[in-house]
Amino acid sequence: MLLCSPFEARIAMPIRRLPPEAVNRIAAGEVIERPAAAVKELVENALDAGAKRIHVRIERGGLGLISIEDDGGGIPRDELPLAVERHATSKLAAGASGDVDLLNIHTMGFRGEALPSIGAVARLSITSKARGAADAWMIEVEGGALQPPKPAPWAALSESGARVEVRDLFFATPARLKFMKSERAEMMAVSEVIKRLAMARPDVAFVLEHDSRVSLRLAAEADPENEGRRARLAAILGAEFAPNCIALDQTRTDVRLSGFAGLPTFSRGTREHQHLFVNGRPVKDKLIVGAVRAAYQDLLARDRHPVAALFLDLPPSDVDVNVHPAKTEVRFRDASLVRGLIVGALSHALAGAGHRASTTTAQSALGAVRAYEAPQPFLRPALQAWGAAEERLAPGDFMMPSGRVESSPFTGEVLSAAKRRGASASPSVSFADSSPARGGAR
Ligand SMILES: Nc1ncnc2c1ncn2[C@@H]1O[C@H](COP(=O)(O)OP(=O)(O)OP(=O)(O)O)[C@@H](O)[C@H]1O
Ligand SMILES: [Mg+2]
Repeated sequence: MLLCSPFEARIAMPIRRLPPEAVNRIAAGEVIERPAAAVKELVENALDAGAKRIHVRIERGGLGLISIEDDGGGIPRDELPLAVERHATSKLAAGASGDVDLLNIHTMGFRGEALPSIGAVARLSITSKARGAADAWMIEVEGGALQPPKPAPWAALSESGARVEVRDLFFATPARLKFMKSERAEMMAVSEVIKRLAMARPDVAFVLEHDSRVSLRLAAEADPENEGRRARLAAILGAEFAPNCIALDQTRTDVRLSGFAGLPTFSRGTREHQHLFVNGRPVKDKLIVGAVRAAYQDLLARDRHPVAALFLDLPPSDVDVNVHPAKTEVRFRDASLVRGLIVGALSHALAGAGHRASTTTAQSALGAVRAYEAPQPFLRPALQAWGAAEERLAPGDFMMPSGRVESSPFTGEVLSAAKRRGASASPSVSFADSSPARGGAR
């Protein structure tokens, strides 16, 4: 069976109303609870429309303006009113039997709920030039009230696309406004949403502007499943990410796990640095989080969390994305297969990299070693001996700059022993892979 690739081109369908029976099966709940949720929905729409360039402009943390411009297929004039109607979508269609299959979803959206939800609480306008159409059209919704489409200028650089503008979010529901955090906090949440979607789609260029200042600019990458992904992750997570991570790519039955898992020495104090994707959808999934924790449990202290960017791709019929109104949770048909794949692939990769340490930790240790270097030539013999001894280290052992050999805390036993002794449980550095340290010491 074919896995689902977020990079595959999709056939455009007209927007249609979902039958009531399908509407009743859709996970109900509040879709837009803060600006970042609106941004997420609008960027996902642009991705579903095949956009390769997405420009996001935000004012006042999203409470003043959210504008998303894309170069996707656009919305034909006749379909604009349907786009803002509840439970009308171009992404699901009834099969021959009249049933809508909610367990075979290839797109980010599927419910026809995001635009009407935004239109109900804000001033929403959509300007769009559909692929092949001569003109652009615009539709406006204010607090749920719809205006008919009118012709609009199209100054965008692309032949087709859409520009969706949301002004005065929650003006129609002032009680909601009281729950907003500071503009800065809302903007950070917006930025996080864009970054997560951008990690999943290296083939798409993103620009994020806040109050007229560009805060993120990402060029489209070629080869989005390999080098392009690595480059995009480095652009978002920093240059330290790739050298401190192990690349993974394993497939079991129909499920593929790829991406990067951080070395134990590159761990963090929160789980915020774990980025999980299922069929290109950023998710917060307990099963995946639990499996990652299990794979690292012998390598990390309880309060440390690995850095990771993990991508699961599986047939859409094997994963239910209709679990939560924000579409951030999923349910796997074969949960034990997914868990087994993650624990197995991560454990194997970590065992293979057992003696590697994070470059940042190694660099600081390297600095310490270099302090022993010239201009004190009398120290050289000691350092040479240190280098020679280091070469005889057993896997899992590491050496202190003093030359003392210790067992690596990468093994659970040693870690627990260290804890029993009351020593710091945070992992230490292994020099076994830091050849510059050796070279520099000689
Ligand atoms: N940027 C866009 N470019 C092209 N078509 C769009 C765009 N945004 C929305 N649409 C069209 O409008 C329809 C309604 O969008 P909306 O986000 O409300 O629902 P959805 O994406 O189908 O489902 P969901 O509520 O799960 O997001 C979409 O099905 C799509 O056809
Ligand atoms: Mg949508």
